[in-house]
Amino acid sequence: MSEPEVVRFDFEDGIGVITVDYPPVNALGPGVREGIIAAVEKGNADPNVKAMVLLGAGRSFIAGADIRQFGTKRPVFKKTSVEVLDDATKPTVAAIHGFALGGGLEHALACHFRIAVPTAKVGLPEVLIGILPGGGGTQRLPRLIGPKAAMEMIVTGRHVPADEAKTMGIVDAITPGTNLRAEAIAYAKAVIAEKRPLSRVRDRKADASAEPGMFDAMRKSIARKARNQKAPYHCIACVEAAVSQPFDEGIATERRLFSELENADEAKALRYAFFAEREVAKVPGAPKDFKPGKIKTAAVVGAGTMGGGIAMSFADFGIPVKVLEVSRDVLEKGMQRVRDNYATSVKRGSLKQSEMDERLKRFTPVERYEDIADCDVVIEAVFERIDVKKDVFAKLEAVMKPGALLLSNSSAINTDIMAGMTTRPGNVAGAHFFAPANVMKLFEVVVGSKTSVETIVRTMQVGRDIGKISALAGTCDGFAANRSRAPFQTEMMLMLEEGALPEQIDKVMVDFGYPIGPFAVSDLSGLDIGYDTRKRRAAENPNFRKLPVPDRLVEMGRKGQKSGAGWYRYEKGDRTPHPDEVVKSVIADVARELGIEQRQFTDDEILKRLLFASVNETCKILEEGKCLRASDMDVMWLHGFGFPRYRGGLMFWADGIGVKEVYRQIEEWHQRYGARWKPAALLKELAESGTSFREAKPKVPMFTV
Ligand code: 3HC
Repeated sequence: MSEPEVVRFDFEDGIGVITVDYPPVNALGPGVREGIIAAVEKGNADPNVKAMVLLGAGRSFIAGADIRQFGTKRPVFKKTSVEVLDDATKPTVAAIHGFALGGGLEHALACHFRIAVPTAKVGLPEVLIGILPGGGGTQRLPRLIGPKAAMEMIVTGRHVPADEAKTMGIVDAITPGTNLRAEAIAYAKAVIAEKRPLSRVRDRKADASAEPGMFDAMRKSIARKARNQKAPYHCIACVEAAVSQPFDEGIATERRLFSELENADEAKALRYAFFAEREVAKVPGAPKDFKPGKIKTAAVVGAGTMGGGIAMSFADFGIPVKVLEVSRDVLEKGMQRVRDNYATSVKRGSLKQSEMDERLKRFTPVERYEDIADCDVVIEAVFERIDVKKDVFAKLEAVMKPGALLLSNSSAINTDIMAGMTTRPGNVAGAHFFAPANVMKLFEVVVGSKTSVETIVRTMQVGRDIGKISALAGTCDGFAANRSRAPFQTEMMLMLEEGALPEQIDKVMVDFGYPIGPFAVSDLSGLDIGYDTRKRRAAENPNFRKLPVPDRLVEMGRKGQKSGAGWYRYEKGDRTPHPDEVVKSVIADVARELGIEQRQFTDDEILKRLLFASVNETCKILEEGKCLRASDMDVMWLHGFGFPRYRGGLMFWADGIGVKEVYRQIEEWHQRYGARWKPAALLKELAESGTSFREAKPKVPMFTV
């Protein structure tokens, strides 16, 4: 059987139709560029062809270059498909539906005209994978819509909806899209009939004379967010070249800067993150034909901060949500908190008042379990106590309609305990949100011993329906994400006893790429959060390693920003953290009492002490099958803990250091610090066999199908 053609050329009513057909999203994979070149040349050569239309089959126009091909040897063309389109001797019309991204939009920009359906989106998102538009996008877009608007699109990588693209001048017309092919042909025929002038984008000028400082201003505005990164700055330099250089020179600049980025660590890490985010959605063994529909109604039990945030997540994505609290007073307080949260967004300008009103209309506060019985999914978010949770699940069992998903937002309690209160444990799973629930993207789906594979797939989909990144975790203390991070948190405290300071540790982590250091985070969330857990664990386990520094700070009333002081001190009405002598002296006192000699730490040691502790724990988590893939853990760190995306994720970063070196260092610390640094068996195995973390496989399945 011959390979299916990835680009077809056919002919209708004097118009040559070039159709890219490379599922799922018409990326410019093997054969696509060649196909476009051949088709345009055919159209140029055929006297019966009066104009040409370029469109995509399936769900999209063209989603860009094939990202899998970066870093590999690719064919070199005498003339690229974009250049061939640019030089077409007949009028060309790009007809856009779905997405025209990256190389996809670049092909459209090389056509004489562009039309789009109302739901289409266009963009140059290359920066998000650590590169820049390398098919002339940085030179054509500024010439088409002006350098400022083009730079903003290229540096943010955002997807621009069709109506905005029309206003900006990226597309010439919006077309209904009922029959895009016919509409595109009609448009091409009109171009011919009206003898519309054929202007090539490359022949226009990009003018920045009205605002010559725009490039420096942009560099300044991204300085914090884009620190340690090259791609955003190279994008700006290319747009600058579009203004200052003739087209061909600008293209040469674009090529040179593109090639500096393609194989840099930043691009490799970002490509890895792109695919890791798609891999994490895959549930091994899930029935192929099982495609859960979008849920129509949701319920949240508990109107506390977490419950309110969860309910907002549904409302924000257009899903009606019932919020259940048996106490009217608590319910009203919870609803007021939701209203206040939205109002803050309106005040900040990130939400329109009308949108806030729409979202609030999706809430129904209720006081009886019977009122939520018909919901497709219910998420329990009540106080974190086993007896309280058990009671909720017994009540859910009594009222919920058959087939409803019964989910628990517990961050610590075994899902099986809740499932045990029902006659339908297959429908029960954990749905672990991260605070603030309406903001944080990570949605950990916790699989109980009886959770059915259909429930797993449906719960993963619920996460996606509300804009989250769903990741699977097995049931264990802390589940996958928090469990992997716990040793990091222990080490940051223990390093204080040894001589590091909160501000030093925070600086190392911010320089590494975190938006905020771990001690500053702790001041935000409250130092008292871990206090009770530590006391409980110390009472249960005589060998529990106490952490006197944070305990003492809490006992002094230093609970973080909310009490005006924690790891740092704060001036009234100001959130700027200031290093504090009091903290220094508490640390020195504790060290003296414990007989620990204080010493200097290098930045490298701080970074590795924190992150290697978590790498080792992740190996244990993988070993026990509580996480499916190292890349899943990376996704959890990117979206749950603010790990810098351009470093790929915890395990990708560790792979960059090398599994053997990670093992050697952990073994050294094991000898020095004892049992808490005992290398995971899987880590030892990987080091001995020279296998990367990325290739590591769980030793036991998380679930059986
Ligand atoms: N290359 C290779 N594979 C791609 C791809 C691409 N550009 N875009 C999507 N895919 C794959 C995904 O990996 C996924 O594969 P899987 O099913 O095996 O996991 C499949 O297509 C479907 O993708 P999504 O699950 O992401 O589908 P969605 O419908 O949710 O989203 C999308 C569609 C918005 C197009 C999203 O896939 C996306 O953002 N893709 C990347 C777009 C991009 O970055 N384009 C620029 C590429 S670089 C470039 O063009 C350089 C040029 O300037 C030279």
